Amino acid sequence: MSDCDLFSLATKGVQALSPYQPGKPIDELEREYGVTDVIKLASNENPLGSSAKVVAALQNELAELSRYPDGNGFTLKTALANMHSVAVEQITLGNGSNDILEILTRAFVTPEHEVVFSQHAFAVYPIVTQAVGAKAVVIPAKNWGHDLDAMQKAITDKTRVIFIANPNNPTGTWLEKQELADFLQAVPETVLVVLDEAYFEFAYSDALAKNYPNGIEWLHQYSNLIVTRTFSKAYGLAGLRVGYSVSHAQVADALNRVRQPFNVNSLALKAAEVALNDTEHLEAGIKLNTQGMSQLITTFEDRHLNYIPSVANFICVEIGENAMKVYDDLLYEGIIVRPVANYEMPHFLRITIGTEKENERFILALKKVLTK
Ligand SMILES: Cc1ncc(COP(=O)(O)O)c(C=O)c1O
Repeated sequence: MSDCDLFSLATKGVQALSPYQPGKPIDELEREYGVTDVIKLASNENPLGSSAKVVAALQNELAELSRYPDGNGFTLKTALANMHSVAVEQITLGNGSNDILEILTRAFVTPEHEVVFSQHAFAVYPIVTQAVGAKAVVIPAKNWGHDLDAMQKAITDKTRVIFIANPNNPTGTWLEKQELADFLQAVPETVLVVLDEAYFEFAYSDALAKNYPNGIEWLHQYSNLIVTRTFSKAYGLAGLRVGYSVSHAQVADALNRVRQPFNVNSLALKAAEVALNDTEHLEAGIKLNTQGMSQLITTFEDRHLNYIPSVANFICVEIGENAMKVYDDLLYEGIIVRPVANYEMPHFLRITIGTEKENERFILALKKVLTK
């Protein structure tokens, strides 16, 4: 074996990165802790699962697995373009929306550039930034959310991309229509603003009350705006990996040159197409989420636990210094939630809203471990 430290050959930015920490998989917990009947409230997945119509449609696709998928994703892109009243040329498909975030950074950002995002923002932003050797400019959060004034002030002539998650993961915080519109107005055209709307469907269901915007409606006004969405959350297709962006056609053209030729597989393309049409399943999931959110908030308030108000399908609750112990105790109860110390939130746990029964089990388990 060689003595060469191969890791030291990686770029400085990559060496400084911490790998993305996914939620603990159910079978890993069963193996390691010897527990059964596990519920996972850790990765913001859809507790109703995938639409039955998707599952049925995929049966027909199985006969075609030996074929490459449609590398242009024509049918899905057309459906998305119709849905959003944009041109097909404005849509880029990704192997999950993470793929888009990565392609975009590779297409537009070099080591000479700076990328601006918020403290406590989604973990993939630093990963894609540092992977291309660019400088990450992390702006301290305001009330757990994005401080748009400070983000605007941080723009220099080196800034190429600004990432904004609305709502943000893991905090669930959101930016209102007017503040975001003012921000977009103030950002120079040469700076790309990526509005990551992975949890759009949940937030938009209460848009009027929360003044939550639909970023796609701003695209005709701001050519430097890129909106990303995903089928992983409200559409219940996380395992298949499919997401997309809507942007100016010239941005999409650049993304299209960088992406891998068949970055979205055939099952994912078909599933997304069918899921888009199953509004009943989508709405059932959103309704369940609203009810589940109230169920958890009621418990937190009863127990005088602080939480961060959220418009997504998860919520961060303040446990205190023993958050990691509570996380671990919950694992022994067969419940996987998400510690967020890697987001500089060591006293919080992030809970994905589950079915009523799953939430109930979590609530009972939480009460039990908190009285230990
Ligand atoms: C804010 C945010 N953006 C993007 C993603 C990426 O999701 P996917 O790659 O599954 O589309 C996630 C997933 O957790 C997220 O929380």
